[in-house]
Amino acid sequence: MDDYAITNLPEEKHVIFVVSTTGQGEPPSNMINFWQFLLIKDLPNDALEDVQFTVFGLGDSNYQQFNSMARKLYQRMLQLGAKIFHERGLGDDQHPFGYDGELDTWTEKLFESLKNIFPNKQYENLEEKIKQLPQPRYQIELIKDQQQEEQAQQKLQENLKLIPTPQGCQKSSMIVSTAVDNELLTPADYDRETRKIEFEFDQNSQASYNPGDILVIHPENSHQLCKDLADHLSLSLSQIVRITKNEKSLQQFKNPFPEYITIEQLFKQWLSVSTPPTRYLFKLMSYFTSDELHKEKLIEISSKEGKEEYYNYVVKEKRNVFEILFDFGTVQIPLEYLIEGLSLQKPREYSISSSQLSNQNKVSITIGLVKYQTPFKRSIVGVCSQYLKSIELKQQKVITWIKKSTMDMPFNDPTTPVILVGPGTGIAPFMSLVEQRNIQIERQQLTQEQYQNKTFILFGCRYKAKEFYYQKFLEELHELNRINLFTAFSRDFDSKVYVQHLLTKYYEAFGDLIANNLEKIKIFVCGTAKYMPKQVEEGFVELLTKYLEGDSEKAKAIIQILIKKRQYVVEAW
Ligand code: 2AM
Repeated sequence: MDDYAITNLPEEKHVIFVVSTTGQGEPPSNMINFWQFLLIKDLPNDALEDVQFTVFGLGDSNYQQFNSMARKLYQRMLQLGAKIFHERGLGDDQHPFGYDGELDTWTEKLFESLKNIFPNKQYENLEEKIKQLPQPRYQIELIKDQQQEEQAQQKLQENLKLIPTPQGCQKSSMIVSTAVDNELLTPADYDRETRKIEFEFDQNSQASYNPGDILVIHPENSHQLCKDLADHLSLSLSQIVRITKNEKSLQQFKNPFPEYITIEQLFKQWLSVSTPPTRYLFKLMSYFTSDELHKEKLIEISSKEGKEEYYNYVVKEKRNVFEILFDFGTVQIPLEYLIEGLSLQKPREYSISSSQLSNQNKVSITIGLVKYQTPFKRSIVGVCSQYLKSIELKQQKVITWIKKSTMDMPFNDPTTPVILVGPGTGIAPFMSLVEQRNIQIERQQLTQEQYQNKTFILFGCRYKAKEFYYQKFLEELHELNRINLFTAFSRDFDSKVYVQHLLTKYYEAFGDLIANNLEKIKIFVCGTAKYMPKQVEEGFVELLTKYLEGDSEKAKAIIQILIKKRQYVVEAW
């Protein structure tokens, strides 16, 4: 949305918005300017009176702020005088068929609305037209002859610096890092694996970060998978290709690829070849087989009737493009259509676990290795965690960015009271603040009176002996009264203990801290999204109710005010 010249909006006749939501109901990073503009207070309430619009939201009902940006945008457009031409749709990632569950019915009705708006002949057979093979947006040339290759090689050298730039990350702020340490934080014979990975920034990077900030990592797909895919397409990984924009494609369309690129770079860095492709790839594939059975099946999977099959065969089984092409061996899809049907590789975001005060040139993250079995018992590993696990220390360059935090941690003042709730790897960003505060306490020579009872940290995991990451460091700081550590080990005892249970158990300590610091206190909750954030919030209400001798209304009001003033912040995934 930020690529769009928003001052043109009042002149648009019909607009379809597709909007996701991030954080606690905030706009995604490529919509920030657009949204700020739309919120300008003195925009007249007829500013968009000639515009007709509709919105489709990409949301996840596991989050409390479900589809909040789609709803807010919808309301704001109406406030500014725009009219709806088609009802709003709210996609839910928790639907058994993901967004497609809502999207299919929504688009079907959308076509009806569009037909009424544009009764012209041109649009008569819209559905039929959409079924035809589209023009590819790219043109691809395999660089074959020697002379051309020499020229291309030169370009390729220049292009090496060109890497996919994730949304919201400026190319200029990219930091090349080298992994220098990879420490296993869980026992080697335990079925879960958590690691601390430490990176060193390139010498001239001038990278700077604060507690709460995020390290964005651009992962590479596995070499074996890229080789398998290239072999299947009868391409060699070292083959250079030239990718240009097809002149017939829309003017607004920007080709993201560098002009010259090797197949290896394309598959390893640029395309999302490890993750399940969308239904669109199946549709494109269906044009490139003469086998009737395969063709029929591909069309079925790509259609809305085949949604369930698509979900069972692709999404739940996490099949990647190579496996799909292998299963449909009669398909010979040209590279320009393969690119068309795949998404760009997405960067992954990790909370930073270190303080830059301890080392200017280093940064560390805490990662849980993603590995699981699909319903058909296929073993799947996470693309980025696997990439990081097997990275060659002190050798391999990693493409990274720093993304500024929206958590707003009080990293300058170690005496601001904070409550940090971080079960599992939710502890990651808090380790950064704890380390920072520890260094500040020493450098600023604070007295015990100044720093004690200021940093309450709640950590929870399954077994103390297996998942208590950073145990030694945290216990030492607790001994020194620099932090107040509370732990919940959910599987060490007969009954489950979770972080929220500690809140009520120690309600006097937490109640005192909150009640005596209502203006200053900052509470952060970090970890998996499913039930934890809501239950922790309920835990806070419960502890305050107990503390206030049963006044639950007041307890609720206090938490609501803290949330509103962003003194209570949740970062969940
Ligand atoms: P469990 O797996 O034994 O249920 C980190 O994953 C820790 O968070 C584990 O101890 C896990 O416990 C716990 N956990 C699971 N669900 C939770 C919830 N709703 N609230 C708080 N902690 C939870």
